[in-house]
Amino acid sequence: MSDVTLATPLTALVGVRHPVVQTGMGWVAGPRLVSATANAGALGILASATMTVDQLRSAVREVKSRTDAPFGVNLRADAGDAAERARIIIDEGVRVASFALAPSRELIARLKDAGVVVIPSIGARRHAEKVAAWGADAVIVQGGEGGGHTGSVATTVLLPQVVDAVDIPVVAAGGFHDGRGLVAALAYGAAGVAMGTRFLLTSDSTVPDAVKARYLAAAVGDVTVTTKVDGLPHRMLRTELVDALERAGRAASLLRAVRHARAFRRESGMGWSRMVRDGLAMKHGKDLTWSQVLLAANTPMLLKASMVDGRTDLGVMASGQVAGLIDDLPSCAELVDRVMTEALATLRALPAAR
Ligand SMILES: Cc1cc2nc3c(=O)[nH]c(=O)nc-3n(C[C@H](O)[C@H](O)[C@H](O)COP(=O)(O)O)c2cc1C
Repeated sequence: MSDVTLATPLTALVGVRHPVVQTGMGWVAGPRLVSATANAGALGILASATMTVDQLRSAVREVKSRTDAPFGVNLRADAGDAAERARIIIDEGVRVASFALAPSRELIARLKDAGVVVIPSIGARRHAEKVAAWGADAVIVQGGEGGGHTGSVATTVLLPQVVDAVDIPVVAAGGFHDGRGLVAALAYGAAGVAMGTRFLLTSDSTVPDAVKARYLAAAVGDVTVTTKVDGLPHRMLRTELVDALERAGRAASLLRAVRHARAFRRESGMGWSRMVRDGLAMKHGKDLTWSQVLLAANTPMLLKASMVDGRTDLGVMASGQVAGLIDDLPSCAELVDRVMTEALATLRALPAAR
């Protein structure tokens, strides 16, 4: 583990050595990646939206068997079984609960009462203000260059805006991969950086080699945003599949969505009634049609096809623009050590103020 440390409000809050977070990525952030990150002194977050409740419990236990360091679990606040998942987090003594969408005030209170640190991910200032007012301990703010579902405002604009708006620690995400980025984020007032794509591209990540090779070969311009997978802006590698989805008409997209919804139902053990309830929750307060909600069922299966099955032709490869700057597969220990060493060298090389 790196000897170099930078103590920040994030390291104090969570009890990790380094102000670096590996984010919860569906099908990617499993026990192996999370425990390798934790053992490297950073905060690893398990992705649970693509796991059943039983799989989540055994994944949490597997991480605990591999490390004594703190780690987190990412969950969907709008999932019908979010309360059950929160119960596992509390019962198993998981340090951090991370959310893809803003959790309710009640859920935040329940987790905090049990001593869990609550860190929602947000993509807009007003969401940060809302969860801060509801008692969240910190936020991860993702700028538009980040991978997966993403907004349109760049990290360099969104981050200072959020830092100025809330009093809790802010962790910067979207476009980070090295020590210079960590120093830049700290200069903006962040308490650390959270990285998705960079941790996907490590030797500890279980993503198949053929898929990693596609990311390594990508240039910045090969990373695009499309709404054609699930109706929401989604950043991923541009592939033949993405081009086909963009060309496809509405009827073909809907048919594909129904097929994938059926597959996800089988895979996740979710009944149709649970899927409809989750769909209703997803629709709530948003301007989504039912066909868009159904399209959303596409995402987990399309991501699984690449991240688990290695099908670069059939699956989508969610990715930040930063994939265009990454060309190696270090272990998590090497990566965290490199980021911290480079951060320190960057700090030392900054011009002195007069
Ligand atoms: C393959 C992949 C899957 C992702 N899945 C999720 C997810 O399930 N939940 C979530 O909150 N964010 C998810 N994200 C977003 C990441 O957690 C993170 O916020 C983002 O990757 C940060 O930007 P970066 O890729 O530039 O580091 C995913 C990102 C990628 C690349």
